[in-house]
Order: sequence, then structure tokens, then C-alpha cells
Amino acid sequence: MATSAKTSFELLLLLILSSSSNQLRGGVPGEFAGLHLIQHIDLSENSFIDGKLPRNLGKLCHLRVLDLSFNKISGEMTEFTDGLSNCTNCRLEYLHLGYNILGGNIPNSLGYLRNLKHLLLHKNPFSGSIPDSIGNLSSLEEFYLSENGMKGTIPASLGQLSSLVVLDIKYNQWEGVITEAHFSNLTSLKELSIVQSYSNITLVFNVSSEWIPTFKLKYLNLKSCLVGPKFPRWLSNQNELYYVAIWHANISDTIPDWFWKLDLFLDVLDFSYNQLNGTIPNTIKFGPNAIVFLNYNRFTGPLPVFSSNVTSFHLDNNFFSGPIPEDFGERNAHVVRC
Ligand SMILES: *[C@@H]1O[C@H](CO)[C@@H](O)[C@H](O)[C@H]1NC(C)=O
Ligand SMILES: *[C@@H]1O[C@H](CO)[C@@H](O)[C@H](O)[C@H]1NC(C)=O
Ligand SMILES: *[C@@H]1O[C@H](CO)[C@@H](O)[C@H](O)[C@H]1NC(C)=O
Ligand SMILES: *[C@@H]1O[C@H](CO)[C@@H](O)[C@H](O)[C@H]1NC(C)=O
Ligand SMILES: *[C@@H]1O[C@H](CO)[C@@H](O)[C@H](O)[C@H]1NC(C)=O
Ligand SMILES: *[C@@H]1O[C@H](CO)[C@@H](O)[C@H](O)[C@H]1NC(C)=O
Ligand SMILES: *[C@@H]1O[C@H](CO)[C@@H](O)[C@H](O)[C@H]1NC(C)=O
Ligand SMILES: *[C@@H]1O[C@H](CO)[C@@H](O)[C@H](O)[C@H]1NC(C)=O
Repeated sequence: MATSAKTSFELLLLLILSSSSNQLRGGVPGEFAGLHLIQHIDLSENSFIDGKLPRNLGKLCHLRVLDLSFNKISGEMTEFTDGLSNCTNCRLEYLHLGYNILGGNIPNSLGYLRNLKHLLLHKNPFSGSIPDSIGNLSSLEEFYLSENGMKGTIPASLGQLSSLVVLDIKYNQWEGVITEAHFSNLTSLKELSIVQSYSNITLVFNVSSEWIPTFKLKYLNLKSCLVGPKFPRWLSNQNELYYVAIWHANISDTIPDWFWKLDLFLDVLDFSYNQLNGTIPNTIKFGPNAIVFLNYNRFTGPLPVFSSNVTSFHLDNNFFSGPIPEDFGERNAHVVRC
């Protein structure tokens, strides 16, 4: 009887699929076997879907798109990806399981889904580490794993993903060390986000001062990772950044002149909660509604005068001196306790 949540999810899928598939004529099969040619399943935002991720989905070797995001699907992914790993040619390109309640580890068999381009697993309670096999997903372009309960390590094999454009693994608590190997072949990377959930520094960036990245980032957001004590030299060829945030990273240094000379056009500048010293130039260029966080550092000299495009800035808890510029009151300025 269809009493368990798992069974009702499978029946629901069968009903929905049966309206679009001739495979079902002549009786509803007990399994998905008759649907093996199905290529596209989109049951996103049906928040009424609950129950476990059916293992039988792993038999759909022709599946290219599976979108089950914004539901209440629980259980683990393992049986599903183990099943797909048995396909002679797994075609899955787009897998969106975000905004569910899927837990357990990210399975190693994920590495057999060789054609994956978009892997979206954010907003779940997944835990553990990213499996080494991630490095086998050579077509991967986007990897979203933000807002999970990940508490393990990030494997260096990630550095093999030469098609990867977005790596968004923020709001987890990663551990271990990130090295140049983690980035060795990330030639396409544009967006990197590793914002730790807690302020404990459990992830260390250990790259040499001579390292020159092969990527040109547009978006960089690192929080509560140990990047310092030196200001990261590897930013020196990152001249396409519009969002740069390296905060609470234990950088105890002066921001070098070459950084200001990158001539960036910024929407967000965030170096808050470090021990940065020296003065802030008035020459930084900002896009409309830009936001600046330089609070909780050791900056000195006069308060910087930012372009009128900067609508909010945080300069408090530094050692600035001199008068407060006149238009500060009209903007969302936080300069208390300079
Ligand atoms: C993979 O295929 C083998 C052989 O057909 C089978 O015994 C096994 O149960 C399959 N594994 C999964 C996870 O479907
Ligand atoms: C990943 O690739 C390596 C080397 O090509 C291979 O030995 C391994 O079995 C693959 N693992 C997975 C999970 O795809
Ligand atoms: C880096 O990627 C290129 C293809 O873009 C490939 O030929 C090369 O083998 C890769 N190197 C490593 C170390 O993965
Ligand atoms: C952070 O570190 C403190 C002190 O070492 C420890 O008590 C606490 O449990 C840690 N919190 C997390 C979330 O790891
Ligand atoms: C950083 O890398 C250097 C050189 O490879 C090594 O000697 C050092 O132990 C590493 N530090 C950490 C914290 O991993
Ligand atoms: C932060 O830097 C200071 C000195 O620069 C050092 O003593 C401290 O150990 C660093 N903290 C961490 C978590 O590495
Ligand atoms: C900035 O901080 C670094 C590291 O603490 C120190 O060596 C340097 O002298 C400081 N520079 C200024 C101008 O205070
Ligand atoms: C503010 O942003 C606009 C739109 O991008 C840009 O054209 C303008 O030069 C900026 N103004 C300043 C003062 O930076």
C-alpha cells in the first residue's frame, strides 16, 4: 500500500510523468523502468513533495535535467547517484536538489556523472567533506553547496575543473588547508565564495607569495579563512573584480599600492575585521550603490572621501584622524569610534 512518504512521491512522479510519456500505456509499471527514456524532470517548487529521494530515479540513464528544488525531500543522495553510476553513459547535465532537507554525505559516486554541468545542492543539511571524485566532473560549470552543514575538507581535485565558473560553498564550516593545487586548472573561475558560518578560523589558505592564479575573478568573498598575515599577493593580477571581500582573515599588513592601481570598479569592498594599517586613498572607483566595509582595522590618516556612488560605508573601529567630511551625514555612514 502507498502509505509511506517515499511511495507517495514515486506515485506522484508516475502520475505526472504518465501525462507526458507514452511509455506508460498498457498499465502503470511498478517501477520507473518503463520510463527509462525520460530526459527531463522538473518538479521544482512543489513544496508538497516530501519523502525520501527515490532510488529508482537512479535508473533513468537518459535523464539530462532533474530539478526537484524547493520541496521537502529528505533522505540521502547516495542510492540515486550509485544507481546513475551504473549507466553506461550517464547523460545528466543539470541536477538541482537545492532547498530540500537532504542530508548525509555528498556521495563519491557523484564523480561518475561525467556530463554534469550544473550541480546545485545548496540549502540542505548535507554534511561531511566534498568527495575527491568531484575532480572527475570535467564539464562542471557551476557548483552551489552553500548553506549546508558541511564541516570537512575541500579536496585538491577540485582544481582540475577547468570549466568551473562558479564555486559557491559559503555558509558551511570548512576545515583544513587550501593550496595552489585547489586552483591549478580553474581557468574559467569567475566567482569564488567561501564564507564560513562561524567566526572560528578552521580553514587556512596556504599559497606561495609567488603564486599567479590562472583565473580572473569577478566576485571574491572569503570570510573567517586564514589568508594573512600578509595581504594576498595573488590578487595582483585580479583586475576584473567588482566584488572583493576578504574579511576576518587575520591580515596584518598595509594594503599595497599595486592593489589600488588595479583600477577596479567596485560594487563591494570589504576588508573588515583584519589588522590592516596605512591610509586609504581617495582614488578608488565605485559603481552605483556601492558598499564599503573597512571597519575593525588599524587604518590611519584622514577619513577617505568616497565617490557619491558609495551609499553605505563602515569605517568604525580604526585610527582615522582629522575632520569628518561634510556629506557623511547624508549617507549611511558608520564612522563612530574612529
Ligand atoms: C549496478 O549494476 C549491478 C549489475 O547490474 C547491480 O548488481 C547493482 O545492484 C547496481 N547498483 C545499483 C546501485 O543500482
Ligand atoms: C575518477 O577518475 C579516476 C581517474 O580517472 C578514476 O580512477 C576514478 O574511478 C574516478 N572516480 C569516480 C567516482 O568517477
Ligand atoms: C587542465 O585542463 C586542460 C584542459 O583545459 C587539460 O588539458 C589538462 O590536462 C588539465 N591539467 C590538469 C593538471 O588537470
Ligand atoms: C569555536 O572555537 C571555540 C573555542 O576554540 C569552541 O569552543 C567552539 O566550539 C568552536 N565553535 C565551532 C562552531 O566550531
Ligand atoms: C604551508 O605550505 C608550506 C610550504 O608548502 C608548508 O611548509 C607549511 O607547513 C604549510 N602550512 C600549513 C598551515 O599547511
Ligand atoms: C593571526 O595573526 C597573529 C599575528 O599576526 C597570530 O599571532 C595569530 O596566531 C593569527 N591567528 C591565527 C588564527 O592564525
Ligand atoms: C603595518 O603592519 C605591519 C604588520 O603588523 C607592520 O610591520 C608595519 O610596520 C605596519 N605599518 C604601518 C605604517 O603602521
Ligand atoms: C558611478 O557609477 C556610474 C554608473 O556605473 C558611473 O558611470 C560613474 O562614473 C560613477 N561615478 C563615480 C563618481 O565613480
